[in-house]
Amino acid sequence: MQHADVDTKKWFKYNSKIIDCIKIMNSTALTNPILRVRIPATSANLGAGFDCIGIALDLWNSFELYHVPQQKECITIESYGEAADKLPKDHTNTIARVLFEELDETLGQKAPGPLRIVCRNNVPCGSGLGSSSTAVIAGLIFAHAIARRELTAENADTLKRAVLSRAVEIEGHGDNVVPALLGGLVVVTRSANGRLLTHRVPVSSQRVVVCVPDFAFLTTKSRAVLPPALPRYDAIHNIGHAVMTIEALRTGDLKLLAKAIDDKMHEPYRFPAIPGAIEAREAALDQGAVAACLSGAGPGILAFVEKNHEQVGRAMQTCFTEAGLSARYWIMNINETGAEITLG
Ligand code: HSE
Repeated sequence: MQHADVDTKKWFKYNSKIIDCIKIMNSTALTNPILRVRIPATSANLGAGFDCIGIALDLWNSFELYHVPQQKECITIESYGEAADKLPKDHTNTIARVLFEELDETLGQKAPGPLRIVCRNNVPCGSGLGSSSTAVIAGLIFAHAIARRELTAENADTLKRAVLSRAVEIEGHGDNVVPALLGGLVVVTRSANGRLLTHRVPVSSQRVVVCVPDFAFLTTKSRAVLPPALPRYDAIHNIGHAVMTIEALRTGDLKLLAKAIDDKMHEPYRFPAIPGAIEAREAALDQGAVAACLSGAGPGILAFVEKNHEQVGRAMQTCFTEAGLSARYWIMNINETGAEITLG
């Protein structure tokens, strides 16, 4: 975007006071980013843990922040990989919007000059693998790193904790955001007074296969198909199964996991809305998957798989193809670290 097209009010607002003495912004070399952030994909719900349980997976979106004094635009975004041609290249991009809003409105600071963000995306968009969480988290981490003016390896972890509740507030889905930041298996809920409660559960190592059809099933749409209230017995069913799911993943008890992943709160309404999804879940189980569920709000399906990973992936893919949708699959491990922040 050329300078003439920039929202000049916004440009002035963010750049009227150039902050001096920003140590982390002293790098002017285009080749050296100030900061790199790597954020993992996540799978929310895991069947009965609707809106409360999520895991991080080892598929990553990476973001690099550069200070480019000679650039005319206040920010430019360069994307590679997944949906690169569809993502905005200017301040309307989610990462830029979150970065500037957080810096200006929450932290009361200004951007130190023109910025460039380079995104290398491996997490498919609109798949149920938390790609939007990665963008929100990246924007927040960049904003807080700029505001802190100095970042060391030691305080990178503090930074992750500092953006946690803001990320949940902005993105809206704690069961994606929290595992993306902290890694592993996470339980997320709120206290009676609305305070965010998170608990990270040590998890036995597991491999999963996630198959994602090319089907637009945005979270807004997939939430709209859910009923406003549930019968009490469905709620009771889910409480029991969610607790068993956590215990099965903690201990690596696959027999328990096979019984635990059964949901009555969202999957009965969402599965029929995704062509080929019911068949894909069955096919995964037929090929020996331990358990299978919708990944987040879908349309991706996640299967816990001990062996024959490729066969399970291909079987799910075939079901979607037969339903008229192209599909891709990924074989992944659970990631234990969550977001990784490194200095330039
Ligand atoms: N728990 C959320 C849902 C996840 O199922 O709607 C959204 O990614």
